[in-house]
Amino acid sequence: MSEDMRYGYFDNQNREYVIDRVDVPVSWTNYIGVNDMCAVLSHNAGGYSFYRDAEHGRITKFRPNGVPMDWPGHWIYLRDQADGDFWSVSWQPVGKPLDQAEYECRHGLSYSRYSSEYKGIRAEQLVFITREDDVEIWDVRITNTGTTPREIAVFSYLEWSFHHIEIDNQNLQMSLYASGSSYAEGVIEYDFYYEPWTYHYHAASFEPDGYDSVREAFIGDYRSERDPLAVASGRCSGSQELTGNHCASLQKTITLQPGEARRLVFVTGYGNRNVGVEKKTKYGNFAAVDAAFADLKRYWDEKCAVFEAKTPHEGLDTMANIWTLYQAETCVHWSRFASFIEVGGRTGLGYRDTSQDIMAVPHTNPKKVRQRIEELLHGQVREGYGLHLFDPAWFKPQKKLEFKSPTIAHAPAKSSYIHGIEHACSDDHLWLIPSICEYVKETGETALFDELVPFADEGIGTVWQHMKAGLDFSARQVGLSGICKGLRADWNDCLNLGGGESGMVSFLHFWALTNFVEAARFLGREKDADRYAALAEDVRDACERELWDGLWYARGTTASGLKIGTRASEEAKIFLESNTWAVISGAVRRDRAESALDAMDEHLFTPWGLHLLQPSFSKPNDEIGFMGRVYKGIKENGAIFSHPNPWAVIAAAKLGQGARAMRFYDSMLPYNQNDKVETREAEPYSYCQFVYGAEHRRHGRARHPWLTGSAGWNYIAVTKWILGIRPGFASLLIDPCIPPEWDGFSVTRKWRGATYDITVSNPAHVSKGVKAIALNGEPVREVPAQPDGSLAKVEVVLG
Ligand code: GLC
Repeated sequence: MSEDMRYGYFDNQNREYVIDRVDVPVSWTNYIGVNDMCAVLSHNAGGYSFYRDAEHGRITKFRPNGVPMDWPGHWIYLRDQADGDFWSVSWQPVGKPLDQAEYECRHGLSYSRYSSEYKGIRAEQLVFITREDDVEIWDVRITNTGTTPREIAVFSYLEWSFHHIEIDNQNLQMSLYASGSSYAEGVIEYDFYYEPWTYHYHAASFEPDGYDSVREAFIGDYRSERDPLAVASGRCSGSQELTGNHCASLQKTITLQPGEARRLVFVTGYGNRNVGVEKKTKYGNFAAVDAAFADLKRYWDEKCAVFEAKTPHEGLDTMANIWTLYQAETCVHWSRFASFIEVGGRTGLGYRDTSQDIMAVPHTNPKKVRQRIEELLHGQVREGYGLHLFDPAWFKPQKKLEFKSPTIAHAPAKSSYIHGIEHACSDDHLWLIPSICEYVKETGETALFDELVPFADEGIGTVWQHMKAGLDFSARQVGLSGICKGLRADWNDCLNLGGGESGMVSFLHFWALTNFVEAARFLGREKDADRYAALAEDVRDACERELWDGLWYARGTTASGLKIGTRASEEAKIFLESNTWAVISGAVRRDRAESALDAMDEHLFTPWGLHLLQPSFSKPNDEIGFMGRVYKGIKENGAIFSHPNPWAVIAAAKLGQGARAMRFYDSMLPYNQNDKVETREAEPYSYCQFVYGAEHRRHGRARHPWLTGSAGWNYIAVTKWILGIRPGFASLLIDPCIPPEWDGFSVTRKWRGATYDITVSNPAHVSKGVKAIALNGEPVREVPAQPDGSLAKVEVVLG
């Protein structure tokens, strides 16, 4: 493998990814912020920040999909006052030639650290957001590593947004004249005048020597952020204005003796000048900055300690213990609409996406998962389906405005957001049912089932009633053959079968039913258990009868009755979704499940992961839906769509095929692609939404990092199905499925207040099958929940 293909490495000690070659082909991003404020920043500190939502709560501006990439950003410029030479701490925006300056970016868990070394000046900018009060801190350290005294001018820089993504990009006739900036008491205050609640501040730990808050004044005419006038000339001009485009730059000129270091702290946030003064006073005390950073570290230390694996596979450990958990948590926190791809164009939650995301992290973020469950249930209509895309804020008391604002996002009228069945997806509501069960298995909070939550349209029901409403809806929405209708879409947004049928959804229905029945039996609700178990049997019969195609399972039928995903199909003969769910759901016969898995391996597997379908559609067919209007090998039309890939891992693990499960897992593992970045392009610490399929000449290129269902599902696949550690309602199940050559592995797992030190040994070199379990030295058949605060030693022997 060529060295050229590496741009960085994993530093597991610090839980950081280190980019030591910063000219990566696309933006490699990170998510800063774990409460209400968030900054999405690249390896070059380019990106944007927002408060609560990326659509209506923008703090800094961003030119998405622009050239140069990732501009503007949250930047620090440095200028040598002796000769006028200037650069930035992150490689961009100044972009010194890489043979003259050294740059590094360390993306950590909710922070990024940028550093540079140039002509005897070492500089570092640590960016993080405090947990306590949502302040974005830039902790800047500058060191003179040379032998002569140096005079260095330091400039911060960011560009303020007009607070709404659409106003940043259109209708400038209003916003350009409604935004103002001013400087006083060391604080740049940005004011969006007709929104009396919108103020942002930027301030520093020192008394500035200069400032600019008008963008054009800082940049200068016919210049750009690469060579702004203020930096080139060594002096901010003291600009402030009640109109125009605004930025924030604070300047300080420092003199450094040889070996001397200085620390400068900048604070940015939501709030007016008074808040700015308060925050700069607070974080002007560096001990407070250190404490806030330690607090953030502790936050992630605690999460990472809930599940820690040590296996013979270093990449698996790195991803499961750190990066995939981090990505899964990020999806639950920010859902889908804040990235460099989704730049805040939408607000709220995708019903299907969030319902799945929460399944992955009830152990590390039970509070957020519980909040999301309530929000999602509130987004379910009485008839049982979910509002496909909704904002939980619609259901909360609305802020009353004394005037009609051109920007404020009013909650739409109820009649407009309660969409009818014609816009309902056939799968949305089904995902939530197992997720609720997973939450209760994790926390033991069975009372949740009886909590009352309003329906989106009318009335109120217990969580249990909501779950039943979802199951009943799918039972009613079946076609003539008894298979669930496709409706607007199923999991596959681009498969729009309408009154046609979706095999995948029937399998999903079966799975949701079995989850529900397990809960009902545990709670002693036998009547419900019997009723839904009988329904599950009907669904199973329909699936086996209608969907089996001889070697694998069909995907469904179009409204006119054309079967899709069959050997006889002209194109798209085999699909990943229906076949993985045939196996995972437990609905189908074992020999057929094995045959379907073999077929997926044979027809869909590549060294970059499994294709969604093969061969791709080559022409549009509106009976099938949007899929045929996408190039072959891209996105839903035959790419290696990441989200269903871990389903194949789970399917293989369920069938006891450890080597195959690991091969599938490994093919997509971003860690394994660290040395193939010239093809992959995207960051090797995050799963992407999709990888170009073999029918496209860019096969292997990965796109849309971070906000994808593959994060949560890969986390589930590796922790619950390969390593096999699955909380149940009453006991902790340990049922691994590993490559036979493994001698074993160990996991530390916290569950309901106790810690389990689990050691699995594999003397007979099998993939699956537990021969013996010892709990604190005593042989047991299962591991019941242990007393709060206790440490349990669990030894498992496979064989
Ligand atoms: C996108 C959507 C998700 C959908 C998937 C497949 O990732 O966010 O809801 O399931 O595409 O179409």
